[in-house]
Amino acid sequence: MIDKQTIAIVGATGAQGGGLVRAIAGDPQGRFHARALTRKPGSEKARELAGLGVELVEADLDDVDSLRRAFRGAHGAFCVTNFWEHFSPDKELAQAANLANAASGADVAHVIWSTLDDTRRRVPLDDDRMPTLMSKYKVPHFDAKGEADRFFVESGVPTTFLLTSFYWDNLIAFGMGPKAGSDGVLALSMPMGDRKLPGIAAEDIGKCAFGIFARGVELAGQTVGIAGEHLTGAEMAAALTRALGREVRYQDVPPEVYRALGFPGAEDLGNMFQYKRDFETDYCRARSVEESRSLNPALQSFDDWLVRHASLIPLG
Ligand SMILES: NC(=O)c1ccc[n+]([C@@H]2O[C@H](COP(=O)([O-])OP(=O)(O)OC[C@H]3O[C@@H](n4cnc5c(N)ncnc54)[C@H](OP(=O)(O)O)[C@@H]3O)[C@@H](O)[C@H]2O)c1
Repeated sequence: MIDKQTIAIVGATGAQGGGLVRAIAGDPQGRFHARALTRKPGSEKARELAGLGVELVEADLDDVDSLRRAFRGAHGAFCVTNFWEHFSPDKELAQAANLANAASGADVAHVIWSTLDDTRRRVPLDDDRMPTLMSKYKVPHFDAKGEADRFFVESGVPTTFLLTSFYWDNLIAFGMGPKAGSDGVLALSMPMGDRKLPGIAAEDIGKCAFGIFARGVELAGQTVGIAGEHLTGAEMAAALTRALGREVRYQDVPPEVYRALGFPGAEDLGNMFQYKRDFETDYCRARSVEESRSLNPALQSFDDWLVRHASLIPLG
């Protein structure tokens, strides 16, 4: 019997890592063994993974020794941080540094770091097009991930930098679904103007990561951007209208209005949409649908995703 290569998966109980766990468990060739990292091996989600025959290991992003132990003997490591749990870019940076140190200390052969753009490269802090947040960021949950890329480079661990896209699942769980206006018509509100937003089914991120590990270390040192489709708000609204059988209208919202909505993270997300809108060409070019499909032949379009998920979208 050939020994399977172990892939240690951070965020295995979540959207990105969970997709990778399921891709490994469902691989007809059985190429990899999935090792799921979690702080809570007794949680319902962790027990579900154990039911798939996945190895569970307790580890915490704030504890580098726990990560080193969890990575020991692994060929690959999928690394992701969850900004939305704490809203702190500085904490995200520290967690990413722990991941890079642990992967290098455990001699992992191939890391995938789930990253995003450091928007300050195009919009420096003294650029007034969008406000500076937390004194040193433009889009905190993007900038910290992009800044953290250097920890992986400096650690010397062979790393593929995975640029992810907007999850369509945000329409279900992140409060971004269509809401009825005063006229009763559902409106999908985003500050994207008439520009295209690269989007993806969250489950496909892990499947693309599987494709990267399956291709081998040839993709180490490279940045790979993924998306299921690039769509304007109007195109998304038209697809929602077809899927829901009820009119959905796209409503462009000025970024300054979005930033002032007052929910936690509104300023961060307002700047994020403005960045994607204003740098549409480069932002989309960095996320090739064709390359994503070559990594994951089952890549879903927005219509595909809607067939399975439209009924789960809360309509406010
Ligand atoms: N929503 C979007 O459109 C979008 C798009 C691109 C990128 N992202 C990024 O995706 C990231 C979140 O990923 P996700 O959506 O896959 O997360 P998720 O579904 O919310 O799940 C969070 C995962 O992170 C793990 N985790 C959190 N803190 C941890 C810690 N201290 N130690 C160990 N594990 C920890 C959790 O594991 P346990 O609880 O089991 O320990 C869980 O598996 C965010 O940083 C966000 O910026 C989001």
